[in-house]
Amino acid sequence: MIALLARGQKLASLGARALHAGVQRDPAFSQLSDKDLAFFEQLLGGTSGVVTDSDALEPYNRDWQKKYEGHSRVALRPRTTEQVAEVLRYCSSRRLAVVPQGGNTGLVGGSVPVFDEVVLSTGAMNKILHLDEVSGTLVAQAGCILQALDEAAAARGFMMPLDLGAKGSCQVGGNVSTNAGGLRLVRYGSLHGSVLGLEVALPEPMLPSGPAPTPASAPGGGRVLDLLRTLRKDNTGYDLKQLFIGAEGTLGIVTAVAVQLAPRPASVQLALLACPSFEAVTATLRSARRRLAEVLSAVEFLDADCSALATTHLEGVGNPLSGEGGGEGGAGRGQGDAGAGASGRGSPFYMLVETHGSNAQHDQEKMEAFLEAAMAEGCVADGTLASSEAQARAIWRLREGISEALVRRGAVYKYDVSLPTAVMYDLVTALRQRLEGAGYGAAAGVRVVGYGHIGDGNLHLNVSAPRYDDDLLGLIEPYVYEYVARHNGSISAEHGIGLMKANCLSYSKGPVAIELMRRIKGLVDPHGILNPYKVLPKP
Ligand code: FAD
Ligand code: MLT
Ligand code: ZN
Repeated sequence: MIALLARGQKLASLGARALHAGVQRDPAFSQLSDKDLAFFEQLLGGTSGVVTDSDALEPYNRDWQKKYEGHSRVALRPRTTEQVAEVLRYCSSRRLAVVPQGGNTGLVGGSVPVFDEVVLSTGAMNKILHLDEVSGTLVAQAGCILQALDEAAAARGFMMPLDLGAKGSCQVGGNVSTNAGGLRLVRYGSLHGSVLGLEVALPEPMLPSGPAPTPASAPGGGRVLDLLRTLRKDNTGYDLKQLFIGAEGTLGIVTAVAVQLAPRPASVQLALLACPSFEAVTATLRSARRRLAEVLSAVEFLDADCSALATTHLEGVGNPLSGEGGGEGGAGRGQGDAGAGASGRGSPFYMLVETHGSNAQHDQEKMEAFLEAAMAEGCVADGTLASSEAQARAIWRLREGISEALVRRGAVYKYDVSLPTAVMYDLVTALRQRLEGAGYGAAAGVRVVGYGHIGDGNLHLNVSAPRYDDDLLGLIEPYVYEYVARHNGSISAEHGIGLMKANCLSYSKGPVAIELMRRIKGLVDPHGILNPYKVLPKP
């Protein structure tokens, strides 16, 4: 999918320190032995399912940002649910810690080992099991790539209810395990609504031993929780699948997913807008909700620095409104990533407003009426409507490419917060001023940028710097988390907690909630082998 640091560029070249400093390897976990490897090879049919070569292991040990790095000696690639359950049975009995891994595009250090945990990759579990055209439901193994599922759905007139920049690499099991939000949550809702069923392999058997049914006779030795229904309505006791949506691999390994698809829209309209202020952005959001109502499918925003970053660091990406970059409608490359005004035509903020509908004429009329009103009200200074799929893709690339551009620029401190929409950007401004005041301004190569899913109240606040720097980090944290807590926000809107924020959970969850989470974890995974050091704070 996405090329990142130049080949061979090492994490250390950005000055990364051990990001798990302070976390000690739990001595209760065993070290991997040759006997363990022999068992895995026998179970998974030889070496193709068992990766031990150090070069081949590198992508399993390093995350997408190349910020978190573990030292696992083995990555397992099972093909079936039964194999996953058997791996968990073995690892539990041997007290081997396990990190579940999908596409490894997670952004909080949750998908890679911290120390030497066994990596269980779902990459080889990539079969579509069923697509029902009447109910619009899809059942797939956890390792199916999101884009592949969307293409399969498209061939039958449907779309996945989830879309995000990592779609070419992330897997549906990883999406569910992070409760990924993405670009169209404003229209299609969260995975807590669109996931209809799950199949999950658990680290411990849930059935008692003894007379039938025994764990041995139950599928996967009693470890497979089969909730793989495609029913729209099912009020039979606790909705257990919800526990695994967003559990980040700490409670079980999702092996298959049933999803409610959405009809693929016959008409898609996309506008890129330039807004003179953040107040104008929020006013445009309100207007889009009111005027586009039932057809509104995405409302995203980015600031001028994000536009400059994407157009400078990504090939062929342009902003037709600012003239930056080499994309369609752009005015040539080489503006630099200095933000608004670099081209002389820049605007402080840009928005993407998209509609999904069934009647192009109707949707176009609505979009044009919305744009006219927004311009008349002074909320939108300039705008362009995509007139082809290629133009729409180019505009989306400007927005979706921001994370990649940031990683290409250097070190990134990444925050993903929910805040009241009206004051959301104040955090970006406040942090920028705080860092400038301490000598971490533009002259030091530091940029504080904001973008995100404004339609969902979700801000992505990123600090881009030439190198990782502990003093800089000390100015950002806990400042950002305290700010979010003061405004009753969330320190993780959609990326999850992972390793990065495990010790910060209390900024968004009270002691009773955290204790209940701990007890649930203890019940399901009493030896704590699944994704240790992640999500829950150190006791
Ligand atoms: P991984 O990164 O492999 O894993 C993520 C977590 O889930 C880890 O804790 C892992 O242990 C666990 N896990 C993975 N698979 C399983 C499984 N089968 N069972 C149990 N646990 C499992 N996120 C958003 O919410 N919205 C966005 O718009 C968005 N855009 C992104 C854009 C880019 C360019 C990138 C790189 C990431 C983006 N992300 C976004 C973050 C990321 O959460 C998603 O890409 C995706 O949901 C992760 O899926 P994955 O298969 O890569 O999971
Ligand atoms: C996005 O919305 O682009 C993603 O969540 C990724 C990111 O913030 O880096
Ligand atoms: Zn996002």
